[in-house]
Amino acid sequence: MSKIVFKNVYKTFDSQNVLNGVSLEIGDGETHIILGQSGCGKSVLLKCLLGIFTTDSGDILVDDLSVSDKQRYNEYIRKFSILFQGNALFDSMSIIENVEFGMKQVRRDSKRIIRSIAEEKLLSVGLESRVFDLYPAELSGGMQKRAALARAIAIEPEVLLFDEPTSGLDPVTSGIICNLLKETVKRLGITSLTITHDLKVAEFLSDRSSILNKGRVVWTGNTAEMKDCEDDFVREFYHASCVISKHRLVQ
Ligand SMILES: Nc1ncnc2c1ncn2[C@@H]1O[C@H](COP(=O)(O)OP(=O)(O)O)[C@@H](O)[C@H]1O
Ligand SMILES: [Mg+2]
Repeated sequence: MSKIVFKNVYKTFDSQNVLNGVSLEIGDGETHIILGQSGCGKSVLLKCLLGIFTTDSGDILVDDLSVSDKQRYNEYIRKFSILFQGNALFDSMSIIENVEFGMKQVRRDSKRIIRSIAEEKLLSVGLESRVFDLYPAELSGGMQKRAALARAIAIEPEVLLFDEPTSGLDPVTSGIICNLLKETVKRLGITSLTITHDLKVAEFLSDRSSILNKGRVVWTGNTAEMKDCEDDFVREFYHASCVISKHRLVQ
């Protein structure tokens, strides 16, 4: 488990201020969701957290480690695992080889041990042994997401990151995957941070959520309290999300 602190983080591209002083604390073992419209800077924030982008100013800490401490960056980055939006499975490797690949980067165990851990992780996310030797293209979107989750947890991270975990999935599969993510982070007892534009995901998954707008966190709380927020943008976001989900039900 790990605590994450964003301290007044700024990030500009050319003259575009994408992050304008993001401050946020995510507690040990918390399931936190960052919500916001497309293009508001969610992925940029995630890339700053991972040190893929350097911030212009401010700091990001995981426990006592700062993303900007280059000497301890390996120790810092080792805490994370990410479930990418498009799963990022290697097409040329079988499902089980995909799970083993991540582990081989960080563990020195024998092939036999790595194989047995990979099998155990795949089973734990609901994939049966008959799919272990198939290739990603042979699996449905939901099964690929499960395989990517198995790969993410196989390296035993302290923090799990989910980037738009339900995008590209149909509503039923989205619900099943959300259940699996929730069950997995609770079972492992680890901190998780999800970024999404989908309020339904936050309502289902999160302990607490935040809304990002114009490069700042404009609201943090339990999603049930969101409708009572006075901030105009938060109200608009909440009502627009409700209209969309009603529309989905009518369809
Ligand atoms: N590498 C980059 N170079 C320049 N601009 C970028 C880069 N990455 C993201 N941006 C800009 O930052 C803004 C936020 O993007 P992003 O974080 O991807 O949004 P989202 O909230 O949909 O994940 C966008 O306007 C995007 O054009
Ligand atoms: Mg994004």
